Amino acid sequence: MTVAAKRVAINTGGGDAPGLNAVIHGAVYAARGLGWQIFGIRDGYDGFLEPQNYPDGGLRELRRSTVREISHLGGTILGTTNRGNPFCRPTKQPDGSVREVDRSDELIECFRKNSLDALIAVGGDGSLSIAHKLQDKGLRVVGVPKTIDNDLESTVLTFGFNTAVSFATECIDRLHSTALSHRRVIVVEVMGRNAGWIALHSGLAARADAILIPEIPYEIENVAACLCRKHHDGKPYSIVVVAEGAKPLGGDVSVRSREVSRAEQLGGIGETVAAQLQELTGKESRCVVLGHLLRGGSPTAIDRILGVTFGAAAVQALSMGMDGVMVALNPPRIDFVPIQVAIAKLKLVPQDSDFVLVSRALDISFGDGA
Ligand code: F6P
Repeated sequence: MTVAAKRVAINTGGGDAPGLNAVIHGAVYAARGLGWQIFGIRDGYDGFLEPQNYPDGGLRELRRSTVREISHLGGTILGTTNRGNPFCRPTKQPDGSVREVDRSDELIECFRKNSLDALIAVGGDGSLSIAHKLQDKGLRVVGVPKTIDNDLESTVLTFGFNTAVSFATECIDRLHSTALSHRRVIVVEVMGRNAGWIALHSGLAARADAILIPEIPYEIENVAACLCRKHHDGKPYSIVVVAEGAKPLGGDVSVRSREVSRAEQLGGIGETVAAQLQELTGKESRCVVLGHLLRGGSPTAIDRILGVTFGAAAVQALSMGMDGVMVALNPPRIDFVPIQVAIAKLKLVPQDSDFVLVSRALDISFGDGA
């Protein structure tokens, strides 16, 4: 089926992830191939809802010449925000107080006024939930799954994950030699929110002694016992990879900060674990927090390929008359799954995941005594 000339918007929401620019590149090239126009909304939906902040325009047409040289670049040329939920935007009131306001009708009106037929929403579970609600309000939406955390159901991979894991692995590789030289325990805290994928994959790739993930609550005594046994067997140093969302058995996640209208910021567990391991093993311990380094920099080849493919597939979905779907990698195919299904639950590491079992076989502890 061919569809009349389209004007399609694209935006990027939530935390940035390497590969966002590749998605934009893929979408623009595919749209232009159909004779469609594609427009980028700045900073999530801010380009529409706060136009006064964009003297050069909150919405701009993206031509092939604009995006030709961007797919290898980190970040997003459109900008992003994780405070931009149009359904509950913190809005300053005349009396100076801040109240959450539903501005979704105003947003839908912006699409109408700009004669935009559809939106390609590139984001993680938060941004895709917003996109799903906009679809319910009558906007045609196709989602593209983005997150370094790789915690979205219905797609085997999200772009950004491979870059994050590759960089974490490189960092942990580097920490082996300094840990060995000082016979120290080095604890490496990595992002991932409530999913342990980054910790599991980088810890396995970089030969960690222990990997602590949210899905397997740990007992610090078990971790210390494993490290002491290895020290006794002749390995004088240890590397422990801790997901920011890891928690002790019966305990809670470490929260760095809480703010209205946004997910709490996790962090701090690495320092806690390092201090406890120093106490229990008697070995000098240090903590390295990789944090936003995992989100920055140039995407790996895999994330570039995923990005351009997802971007082009989103346009293809619209051209085939689909909406309300998310592009998904279901090897060897690119699939389209209802956004509602994709956001229904997070994809967490199964306790019996082959990667967990292989790690255990390689004498990597998860701190659960198994
Ligand atoms: O979801 C991606 C992610 O990088 C998480 O791994 C992390 O918890 C969070 O975003 C950090 O968000 P912020 O950039 O707001 O600190």
